[in-house]
Amino acid sequence: MLLEAGASVRAVDRDPEALNFARARLARFGDRFQSRHATFDSLAEEPAGELDGILLDLGISSRHVDAPERGFSFQQDGPLDMRMDPTRGDSAAELLAKATREELVVWLREYGEEPRAGAVASAIVRARAEGGLRTTGQLADLVGAVYGGKRPGGRHPATRTFQALRMVVNDELGQLDRALACAPRALRVGGRLAVISFHSLEDRRVKQFMQSRAREYEDTPLWPSSVPNPDRQFKLVTRKPVVADEAEIEENPRARSAKLRVAERWEAGTER
Ligand SMILES: C[S@@+](CC[C@H](N)C(=O)[O-])C[C@H]1O[C@@H](n2cnc3c(N)ncnc32)[C@H](O)[C@@H]1O
Repeated sequence: MLLEAGASVRAVDRDPEALNFARARLARFGDRFQSRHATFDSLAEEPAGELDGILLDLGISSRHVDAPERGFSFQQDGPLDMRMDPTRGDSAAELLAKATREELVVWLREYGEEPRAGAVASAIVRARAEGGLRTTGQLADLVGAVYGGKRPGGRHPATRTFQALRMVVNDELGQLDRALACAPRALRVGGRLAVISFHSLEDRRVKQFMQSRAREYEDTPLWPSSVPNPDRQFKLVTRKPVVADEAEIEENPRARSAKLRVAERWEAGTER
C-alpha cells in the first residue's frame, strides 16, 4: 500500500524466503522497492534524520506457521527449528538440548507467561535425558501431558511454550528494544514510527516506549515545578492501539491479535 501510494520503501526481513517472496511480488515497483536480508535492529545503520516513516511489522508470518518444516507449529509435526532466519543461530532443538532447567523456567515464565513453567521445564529435562526432543509434535505432546489432556481457555496447552521458545530463538524482545531505540535518530522530524505487534509482551513495550518519549514532563514531577522530559522525541498519533474490525477479522482471523501504535517524531522548537 505504501508503494502504491507513491512511497519508496527500503525493506528488511531476516527470513530469506520471505524476502524472495516479497521481491517477486513487488518487482513491478522497480527501484522504489529495495530490500535486504537483515534484522530490524539494523536500523542503526540508517543515516540520521532521513526516513519519513518506519513500520515494524513484528513476529512471524502465516507462511511460517503454515510450513511444518519451519518448526513453528504444534498443529503439524516438523523439526523443532523456529528460526526466522534459518541461515544462522541455534534452532529450538539446539537451545532445548543445552538450556539448564532454571533457564527453561525463566523463559517459560517471562516469555510465555506459562503458569506451569516448573512442571513443563522438568518434563523437558526428563525427555531430553530419555533421548531428546527433536520435533514439534514431541514438544506439544509433552506439554499436553503436563496438563493431563486439558485445554485451559480452549487453547492447546503448548501455545505458551511455543511462544516462549520462539521468542528466545529469535531474540524477539531484544530486537524490538534495539529497533525502537534506533528509531528516533533515523526519522526526520515529522516522520512516523508505526509498530504492529501481536502479543501483550510486545505491545506493552511499544506502548511504554512511545509514552515515555512523548511525555511533556518527567513521570514524577518535582514539587513545586514540573521537570521537562529530557527524552521527549515523539508526539502520540494513536492514544489507543488501532485493532482490526470484525470484517477484517472475518477475512483474516490472524489479524485478531494485531495492535498498531503510531507516534510522530518531534523536536523542541519545531512546532507550528
Ligand atoms: C507479521 S510478518 C509480516 C510480513 C510482511 N510485512 C507482510 O505483510 O507480508 C513479520 C515478518 O517480519 C520478519 N521479522 C520478524 N522479526 C524480525 C526482525 N527482528 N528482523 C527482521 N525481520 C523480522 C519475519 O521474518 C516475517 O517475515
